[in-house]
Amino acid sequence: MTGTDLREWLGQASEAGELQPVEGASWDLEVGALSQVNYRRPVPKALLFDSIKDYQRGLRVLSGSVSNPRLLGSVLGLGWDCTDDTLMEALAVKPGEWVSRAAEFRAQEVPDGPLLSTVVSKPDVNLLDFPVPRWHEGDGGRYIGTGCAVVTRDYDTGRINLGAYRMQVQDDGASASVNIEAGKQGAQHLRRWFEAEGRAPIAASLGHHPAFLVAAGIEVPGDVSEYDYVGAILGEPVRTVAGQVTGLPLPHDAELAIEGWVRPDNVRPEGPFGEWTGYYSGSREPILTIDIERVYYRENPILLGAPPGKPPHDYSYMRTVMKSAIITDGLRKAGLPGLRGVWAHEAGGGRSLLIVSIEQRYPGHARQAAYLAAQFPNSAYMNRFTVVVDSDVNPRDLGEVMWAMCGRCDPQVDIEVMKRTWGSRVDPLTLPGALAFNSRAVIDACRPFEMLGDFPEVAESSEELVAAVSRRWPEVSG
Ligand SMILES: Cc1cc2nc3c(=O)[nH]c(=O)nc-3n(C[C@H](O)[C@H](O)[C@H](O)COP(=O)(O)O)c2cc1C
Repeated sequence: MTGTDLREWLGQASEAGELQPVEGASWDLEVGALSQVNYRRPVPKALLFDSIKDYQRGLRVLSGSVSNPRLLGSVLGLGWDCTDDTLMEALAVKPGEWVSRAAEFRAQEVPDGPLLSTVVSKPDVNLLDFPVPRWHEGDGGRYIGTGCAVVTRDYDTGRINLGAYRMQVQDDGASASVNIEAGKQGAQHLRRWFEAEGRAPIAASLGHHPAFLVAAGIEVPGDVSEYDYVGAILGEPVRTVAGQVTGLPLPHDAELAIEGWVRPDNVRPEGPFGEWTGYYSGSREPILTIDIERVYYRENPILLGAPPGKPPHDYSYMRTVMKSAIITDGLRKAGLPGLRGVWAHEAGGGRSLLIVSIEQRYPGHARQAAYLAAQFPNSAYMNRFTVVVDSDVNPRDLGEVMWAMCGRCDPQVDIEVMKRTWGSRVDPLTLPGALAFNSRAVIDACRPFEMLGDFPEVAESSEELVAAVSRRWPEVSG
């Protein structure tokens, strides 16, 4: 058990051979490019950048923190030996459990913590005192918030939300914009504060145990505080310290954090930024910008980077696994029978391409699975294709899924399109200035129900025959 101390977790990652130190890279593109090289290795590692150009040794940036099953498993408190399969097995019921047990792990406010070692107040705030990367060549600036956890409070209920929203350094380091898409809980919080008070308190942790990145970066149900969710993941309550100005809670052992205010009219041009769709997000647009009152940091803070981009990217593996587990849990809870598997592919950033495998039980079962999966509150955002396949098709294997589509899906009857659904401004198909609707195709790639009895058999050797010839000619099967 590491609690939420990033440094202890890094110690364990190092012992497990999952942490790779990198010395001497520049914050200007090299940290980002090396991170990309890492994500594209067969098994990425966590990269810890130190001695970053123009910055003193000790000021570090971490990326790749949840980029393989061993790293993600450890972050989720499942030990250091997870594989894709054991991770998915372990997560079969976990997301539901974390939600239902969150109340048992309420975050506890403590008076002090390592985060408060150094406090800088306005007007001395300078975010560029830290080695904030310019991640991609086409980015419009330096992004201090990628693996961040932005803290907001529900005006009416006081519930705390954490969201990972990209944050660009503005005003030469004095402030940072925060890009929250419409419909996100953080956006709903801010809108209500603006209506009631004309401004909203906001805080952000910018370096922390990756469990905060997981909780902030996935769609946790709206009535659960992500701090309590992290507590449920780790099996112990998170300890927080209150921001001196807004009172918003921050992890007591976070590495680096800010707090301040946002106002509807305080905006700066933001972007473009290389996004999870694999494209740069449109043009520069006016985005809410935080009037930073305080910066808090530990000695030699570690910034947690999680830059998106063309997949695989920093958190595409994490999103794929977590989304697949959450949607599985949702379909089970909704009472869908015959569910065999769900996979939210990294090619679609864990959002846009969803495969559901079922054992068909009744007419309409396949469409029901597809419509449900495409529209859960925590899966609806930016879905584009939801494909349902029979249980003999492995949803993780895109070759098999495409094969099923080619042989079992008749486009004129088996593809339906939902229109004006929940899209995103980062969708490369969204026109500048347009409302972020999208459409999504539900693709029924199951054998037609009425043909189940006499659908042609799959033309492949039986398992028994394959086993027999493999025993006899091992040099072929090996
Ligand atoms: C590293 C990372 C960066 C993200 N950047 C953004 C962003 O800039 N804007 C946004 O709306 N969502 C972004 N997301 C997705 C949200 O964090 C995610 O939808 C989360 O569930 C939002 O929390 P909320 O539903 O509590 O508001 C990002 C996720 C991750 C993991």
